[in-house]
Parts: sequence; structure tokens; C-alpha cells
Amino acid sequence: MSKMLYGADKEAVWSSKTLAVLDPSLPQRFQHNSHAAMFRALRREAPVHFCPDSPYGPYWSVTRHEDILAVERDHQVFSSENNIIIGDVSPEFDVTRAFATSDPPTHTQERRAVLPSFTRKRLQVLAVGMRQKIRSLLAGLPRDREFDWVEEIASPVTNSMVGELFDLAPEDRSRLPYWCEVLVTTPEPGALVQSWEERQAVVETFRDRLLHLWSDRREDTRRQDVIAALSHSPDTAQMNHNPMRLVGTVALIAGANEAARGALSGSIVAFHQTPGQWSLLEQDRGLIDNAVSEIVRWQSPIIHMRRTTTQETQIGDEVIPEGARVVMWYCSGNRDERVFEDAEDFNILRYNADKHLGYGSGIHRCLGQHVAEMELRLLLEELLDSQMRLELVEPPQRILSNFSANYSKLVVRTVA
Ligand code: HEM
Repeated sequence: MSKMLYGADKEAVWSSKTLAVLDPSLPQRFQHNSHAAMFRALRREAPVHFCPDSPYGPYWSVTRHEDILAVERDHQVFSSENNIIIGDVSPEFDVTRAFATSDPPTHTQERRAVLPSFTRKRLQVLAVGMRQKIRSLLAGLPRDREFDWVEEIASPVTNSMVGELFDLAPEDRSRLPYWCEVLVTTPEPGALVQSWEERQAVVETFRDRLLHLWSDRREDTRRQDVIAALSHSPDTAQMNHNPMRLVGTVALIAGANEAARGALSGSIVAFHQTPGQWSLLEQDRGLIDNAVSEIVRWQSPIIHMRRTTTQETQIGDEVIPEGARVVMWYCSGNRDERVFEDAEDFNILRYNADKHLGYGSGIHRCLGQHVAEMELRLLLEELLDSQMRLELVEPPQRILSNFSANYSKLVVRTVA
């Protein structure tokens, strides 16, 4: 594939002629981190853009901060039912559905049911163990050789957080990421599972394990983990009769947590690429909360979410028909120059960093925002305490995705 297709991050490439035939979703552009100029041009010239032909079919792109907020806040016209990613989910992956891919009243009931697992008080309790975990991981890092930040820190921290949210025993903690991945894997030679039968057997093991935990925990009202919360809530107490919905809900929360991995890695890239910002933090820890917002704005760990129109509607100057796919590009809204000054820069002093759209908005606003912020805050605090300074040894390796801005490898070393 020509580098021009995805590698050219130059304003000049994007004329109104090229924008007219543009498919903004090309995953390679995100992997190569070369999408900024394209989105700048879209925000300026075609803020609500129609792509008539893509591997996902026709779709609309919404790129300005103001328009994304308008879509987020009108859940009646912009529905989440069935799917919130650009590509349609095929029926064999139906199991991935949960409250994020539902409209009210189902969304309201199921989201409400898990809220006790995410209260401020509960997160304060979880923070104690999480700080210990991060401290011991940092203490164990090699000081004399390069290492992969994703493998040594970002993944163990987020995996451990999920284990705590579901209150899983060690053997389940290590199996959960595998189970969740199998759910979205098409069986083929060389893949995680080779046949549909094998996939089905793994899914059934996952389902049975959750049902076992469910019956163990439903009588114990002191427990506040996600599985217990679902079994206690009158809205979802029957979910064990629809066990694939339970599987989907657990997989949703476990999968969503992976966005924090992108943020934990993105923070290292951001501070490395912007000299002086880490020193600001060293001088004033009062900046940590704003730094956490700025990391999420700058990294935009979730690149897009999609809605489907329930009726003809208008966004900006464009009339959108009923049944259309509408993709909100958070990575673009978070760099909108109408809202953020010098929007491409990482700046922990930014006065309105918390106006970012990284967690979405409206009724589907990220349920794990405070979990993610806690993970980031603890990491920054513990890094400051350790007096460790890190530098990137080679360019970051990003995953091939137009949904998740995550890193596959981030080779770093500590510097004195
Ligand atoms: C920096 C890290 C994170 C980012 C950037 C992020 C981003 C998002 C975004 C953009 C949405 C969709 C919002 C919308 O449609 O308006 C979302 C939804 C969600 N997130 Fe997060 N997320 C993060 C971490 C987490 C964590 C740690 C968890 C759980 C442990 C989590 C759980 C969820 C859930 C359950 C939803 C669905 C909410 C609903 O539909 O009502 N997220 N997140």
C-alpha cells in the first residue's frame, strides 16, 4: 500500500476534491498516527462528511467538538441499539451485546445495576491495593536495560484492575482476557481458536464460570463486585436466565477497561514528546488531575463511537437520512481548534483540558471514567515518588485499529 494513502500528515494533501472521495476510517492511518491533518481539513471543509463507499458500507463522519456533543446528547435520534462501532457486528458475535449497545429502558436498567461497583467509596478502597500493585511493578522494573512498558506496566495494571472490579480468584484473572478475546475471534487456523466448535466450548466454560460466581454471590449483599451487583439489582436479578447477556456485560466492562491501557501508555509517549511537561509535574503535584485530563484528551484512547439514526435529522448543514451510520471521531473533537488552543500540543497547564470528549457524553458517558482517572493518577504519583525518569528508545508501535488508540509495544528505558 502506498505511504500516501495513510502516511501523509500534510495539510496540502487534503483538498475538497480528495475529501469528497475520502474514507476517514482507514485503520493504517491511525496505526501510523498520521490522521491529524486529515481531521483538521475535515473540521474546516467538511465537518459532517459522507463516505459513500467503505469496507463497512456508507457512513457519516462527525468531526467537530460541538457536533459530536449534539449527537451524544440526542440518544433518541442517534441510537446505540445493536452496535456502536463503525462495522456491523455479524450475528455469530451477538454475544458481545450489552447495555452499551442498548437504548433505554434496557440501557438505563443495566447501567444502574452495576453502578454500586463504581461508587467513589468503593474506588477509594480499590485504590489502596492498586497503589501497592503499581508501586511493586515500578520497583521491579529493570534499571539497566530497555523494557516494554505495555508488557511490564500498562497491561498488568489494567488486568489487575479488572480482577478487582469482578473480585476474581487468581486463576480466573488470568483466564478472563483469553475468554473475552475468544468471544470476538473468528475461528481459523492460527487464530486463538481454530473452529467454531472450539470457540463454542470456550464460551460455554466462560458462561458456566460466571453462573457459578453468580449463584455464589447473589445472597451476599455486602459484596459490591460487578457480578454481585448484577445479581442483587431487581433490574438484572434474572440475568442468569439469559446467561449470554451476562457474558456480554462482563466482556463489555473488561474490554472497556482496555482503553485505560492506551491512556497509561499514551502518558509515557506524551511526556516523552513534550520536554518540560514532566518537570512541571515534579514541581507541582497539584497539576496531576489536569494532567490526567490532558492525557485522555491528547491520546483519545477510544477513537470513535457510532450511532444509527432512528429518523431523518440534520447535523450542521447536512441532512442525514433514517437508518444511517453516524461516526463520532473523538480523536478529532479532542483536537478541535475551536475549543482547544494549540490543540495538537500536549499541555498539562491547559485551562480547559477537562472539556475533552475522550469519555463521550450523555447517557452512555464512560462508566469507568473514575476508574481510569484513578489508574492514571496513581501511576503519575508513584512515578513521581520513585523519581524514575523514562525515555522512549524507539518509535511507539500502535495497533492496527480505527477504534482503539492502543500500543502493542513501547520500548523505554529509565534515565538517571
Ligand atoms: C482512559 C480510559 C477510558 C476511556 C478513554 C474510555 C472511553 C469511553 C467512551 C468514549 C465510551 C462511550 C461513551 C459514549 O458512547 O458516549 C465509554 C463507555 C464505557 N466505558 Fe469507558 N473508557 C475508559 C476506561 C474505562 C474503564 C476503566 C471502564 C471500566 C472498568 C470503562 C467502562 C465503560 C463502560 C461500561 C462503557 C459503556 C457505558 C454505557 O454505554 O452506558 N471504561 N468509555
